[in-house]
Amino acid sequence: MGSAAKPHRDEWAAFTSAMLEVQEFVRAARQTPEKFPLFVADDRLEARFERPAPLPTAAVPLDAAVSELLGVLQAGYCNASHPNYHAYFAARPRLEAVLGDYLGEALNQTPAAWRAGPGATVIESEVLAWIADFIGFPRGPGRWPGGIVTGGGHLANLAALKLARDRALGEAIQAEGLRGAPEAAVYMSREGHFSIARALDILGHGRRALREIEVDDRGRMLPQALAEQIAADRRRGVVPLAVVAIAGTSGSGAVDPLEEIAAIAREHGAWFHVDGAAGAAMARLPGCAERFAGLAEADSVTLDPCKWLFAPYGIGVLLVRSGDVLLRAFPSASHYWEERGEPDLFAMGPYGSRQVRTLGLWLLFRSLGADGLRELLGELRRLTAYLADRVDKAAELELLHRPELAVCVLRARRPGDDEAATNHLNATIQRRLLESNRAFVTTLDWRGATYLRVGVNNYILTESDIDRLIDSVLAIVAEA
Ligand SMILES: Cc1ncc(COP(=O)(O)O)c(C=O)c1O
Repeated sequence: MGSAAKPHRDEWAAFTSAMLEVQEFVRAARQTPEKFPLFVADDRLEARFERPAPLPTAAVPLDAAVSELLGVLQAGYCNASHPNYHAYFAARPRLEAVLGDYLGEALNQTPAAWRAGPGATVIESEVLAWIADFIGFPRGPGRWPGGIVTGGGHLANLAALKLARDRALGEAIQAEGLRGAPEAAVYMSREGHFSIARALDILGHGRRALREIEVDDRGRMLPQALAEQIAADRRRGVVPLAVVAIAGTSGSGAVDPLEEIAAIAREHGAWFHVDGAAGAAMARLPGCAERFAGLAEADSVTLDPCKWLFAPYGIGVLLVRSGDVLLRAFPSASHYWEERGEPDLFAMGPYGSRQVRTLGLWLLFRSLGADGLRELLGELRRLTAYLADRVDKAAELELLHRPELAVCVLRARRPGDDEAATNHLNATIQRRLLESNRAFVTTLDWRGATYLRVGVNNYILTESDIDRLIDSVLAIVAEA
């Protein structure tokens, strides 16, 4: 018998010792992130990715396997813990959330079925309610929970469109498929997320069913253009399945005019979905809550806690007005499943068994409280404004527009440089910031112009980190 099959008491000793090693690595990475590269991918990693190592046959002690694993993570590492990690929306997760994930996985609880995790099911229900309360979305009537937990924004958006489709074309479509169904369309601004087009492909409507609506110069959907497009489609007999408004675009964090869009969706009988994967977390934040007026009227809202709710990657949430629509949308029965009338969440969403990802969020809400979470989010916005002010004051820098949430889009521009030279300069700045381990920002292509996109995602960020970022950008401009 190999060492891995030893009695469980030995298993615990091996785990504890390996855990110490893991813990020390995590401590160093999180407590002294500046000592780690912002991004590294050792040349050998790509070869290893394409030609994975052979299946190990002989046992090794767990400590040894852990050391090997940490070696790979160190050779290929994206330093989301670093204060100047400004890529996209997700950064350093809160440790409360990490702890909850560990607990759920170690005990292997699932919220999919009451009899496989009743406590986990209750916590998930509570977290969905707390997220709804946190963003000001009504806990609607009917079966609770009025929402589902998914693996991310993609799946939450997919589920939303499936609900919209069932309502617009009738639930018979679940059995019959799209055969004989009328042509249908979904409306979203051109700044919306590509997950919607992918969902339309998966649902069988095809990507062409997506109508991309024009935006204003701040990236917000133009309601008039939306109304005209829906009316033109309806004249041709096309059924408007859903209108998707974005609360926090992936590019610049813009929030569509939700109230006006809600009214247009309602007028045409279309499902009103708000994709607030990142932004919805700020919906009731003092200073920006008015931008989210109309969110409470949505038929569904996507919010990814792994973005601005500080959970680790891989959790999205879809909130709906009533759990009844979820029950009707995902019917399931099997001869191997004895139906006992228990609250089985697998019957309310597209997943079967799955990890419980809400224990950590429960700990986060319970320990920080909504006030504490809002304080963290408010600080992200305050620092974003500070960053924008610094850009405004620098002659060589300009903002795409004043930030709405916690994304700042800017670029450097030298007098006399044409558009191509300016684009090149900004791409160079992005690359040099990363190569010199000063900051990880991304580029954003805004109608052919290259900008620097700075996500202000990290709750340990300070003004001096932002000063360092701006000073580094200016130094690169001076030497480029
Ligand atoms: C607005 C928006 N919607 C949806 C998504 C998709 O989220 P995920 O990558 O978790 O599937 C993103 C990702 O950044 C997003 O910004």
